[in-house]
Amino acid sequence: MNPPRYFGLIPAAGIGARLGVGIPKQYMPLAGKPMLAHVLDTFAAAVIAHTFVVVSAEDGYIHDLVAAAPHWSGRITILFRGGENRHASVLNGLQAIRAQLGDDDWMLVHDAARPGLTGVLIENLIRVLQNDDVGGLLALPMVDTLKRSDQNGRVAQTVERSALWAAQTPQMFRYGLLVQALTQATALTDEAGAIEMLGLQPRLIEGSPRNFKVTLPHDVALAEMFLRS
Ligand code: C5P
Repeated sequence: MNPPRYFGLIPAAGIGARLGVGIPKQYMPLAGKPMLAHVLDTFAAAVIAHTFVVVSAEDGYIHDLVAAAPHWSGRITILFRGGENRHASVLNGLQAIRAQLGDDDWMLVHDAARPGLTGVLIENLIRVLQNDDVGGLLALPMVDTLKRSDQNGRVAQTVERSALWAAQTPQMFRYGLLVQALTQATALTDEAGAIEMLGLQPRLIEGSPRNFKVTLPHDVALAEMFLRS
């Protein structure tokens, strides 16, 4: 039997409207280089056989980004296959690389909007999951007390937090299972949700606060603090 191979897939076809910076969020400069460059530097240096990046067909920034990073040469392939939401972008990307992957190869799907990922987090994810039957994801246990609101912005309920986690990425599943799950599901915000719909239980592996998703304007300063540290 061949040893398992690990591949990266980075959905980077969003526009990041909530950040309101005028350029797609993944190209916004953070601590000296675009957000997506932080992610690709991490993947290119990690124990990943090859990384695929899904951008929109009209993307006007990716050529310059790749041209400025000769050290990614041979480690990264750009797929102009972005879809109408993250789910569609990931599935389009997976379908485009069918000929290069085996069903048992592992895919690590990671948001372009999480520039704080480190090689250590990737290695830990792979170490825990490499013999797992299902796969899993990085996530953070909830520390705050959680409230569910009603339509008037008042507390309807306090939610027991002891078993609650916030999902991060990478989310790591075998290629064949992931394609099957995403093909059957519709418009989910993460891969694990699609795997759960098959009745399977992805494993939760503790991530890091620095791997948060840059979404709102006030996230920018926090991301820069983590990236410079
Ligand atoms: O918008 P949000 O930050 O939740 O997006 C998460 C990730 O999904 C980002 O990396 C974004 O570029 C990607 N995405 C995508 N295709 C879309 C929408 C989002 O690849 N149509």
